[in-house]
Amino acid sequence: MAWLDYGLRFAHILGAILLVGGIVFQRCVAVPALDPARDPTSGPDADRSRQRWGRLILAGIALLLVSGLVQTALVSIAYRFPNGEYNPVLGVKILAALAIMFVASVLAGRSPVSRKWQRAPRRWLNLLVVLSVTVLLLAGIMRKAERVPKKSDAANEPTWGVTMR
Ligand code: HEM
Repeated sequence: MAWLDYGLRFAHILGAILLVGGIVFQRCVAVPALDPARDPTSGPDADRSRQRWGRLILAGIALLLVSGLVQTALVSIAYRFPNGEYNPVLGVKILAALAIMFVASVLAGRSPVSRKWQRAPRRWLNLLVVLSVTVLLLAGIMRKAERVPKKSDAANEPTWGVTMR
């Protein structure tokens, strides 16, 4: 049943690539290249780029929320964390992740607030890049956190064989 572990990690990492990769692409490529303030004719292209980015954001959010919630449940059932850092780090990571999902969705949207934010895309994209780097650093701390199977001896490892390492 290790496929459950691999499948969840694959879905989570793919979600992270779609969401964070899209943010970096918008900040470093699309916005500088399609800036209506510099080239008024690029407006329609900028709109099209944002709409396509919006679809990537939705796919990334769906993959991250589903795989993240299931992983959170499985890890909390299977392991305890003697150093106590895992849950606070996970909590901060989830809050930062929800902020990324909200800001990116608004920035790619068509609402009056979206239009207002789209007049200063660099400011919001800079915030998204900083939050994304923070989430990735927190994920690294979680992955390295010392964990002890709740069934303490190795022979009692959970039968579904998910090692999460
Ligand atoms: C911007 C959104 C997010 C990004 C970029 C992100 C990124 C990552 C990355 C890169 C990993 C390590 C993957 C691996 O090596 O297996 C990870 C692990 C994890 N993430 Fe996320 N994540 C995000 C949102 C979430 C959310 C919303 C949740 C919970 C609802 C979540 C829960 C987890 C859990 C439980 C792990 C596994 C850590 C472990 O094995 O102990 N993540 N995340």
